[in-house]
Amino acid sequence: MEIGIIVHSLTGNTLSVAERLQERLTADGHDVEIEQLKTIGEENLSETKIDNIKLKGYPDPQAYDLLIIAGPVRGASASPVLKHYFSRIGQLEKKPTLLFVTQFFPFPWMGGKNALKQMTALCEALGAEVIGSAVINWKNPRRERQIAELLQQFSELAARKDQKVK
Ligand SMILES: Cc1cc2nc3c(=O)[nH]c(=O)nc-3n(C[C@H](O)[C@H](O)[C@H](O)COP(=O)(O)O)c2cc1C
Repeated sequence: MEIGIIVHSLTGNTLSVAERLQERLTADGHDVEIEQLKTIGEENLSETKIDNIKLKGYPDPQAYDLLIIAGPVRGASASPVLKHYFSRIGQLEKKPTLLFVTQFFPFPWMGGKNALKQMTALCEALGAEVIGSAVINWKNPRRERQIAELLQQFSELAARKDQKVK
């Protein structure tokens, strides 16, 4: 199955998890592309209007059978760059979609869950079928376990979707 991991990552945490996921899903037999969302010029962390954000490129979600969308938690919310991306892409009609976020604080209730809730609502408003999600807490001593669980969960969900596609 063609899988696109669309990721916003400023300091590399989210990207590092995306790369491990790419490795795992490739070993599972999928074709996996990572597409990074990058702003034109330095990212302005105080920009509040998502319309003012400009990206170097807007990956086409239609190129994939399954989407994985990921980014950092920002101010206990979803990444503004991802919100901007969602505002610029067309419908995601029934596209199976997995979401994950990374955050500094140690527990998902410290913003991660809220960010996922926002990302889920934005994807569902575009018609996507969100089939799973995960939070990675960078300062949690169980971070490695969280990442291992994410890899296992997403691998199983992708395999289940793949059976339906074939
Ligand atoms: C402007 C800004 C706001 C942030 N807000 C939060 C927050 O509310 N909660 C949290 O746990 N981490 C917060 N962080 C930390 C990032 O979510 C965390 O370091 C994340 O793993 C970074 O991912 P990246 O390396 O892929 O960019 C914030 C970081 C920045 C730059």
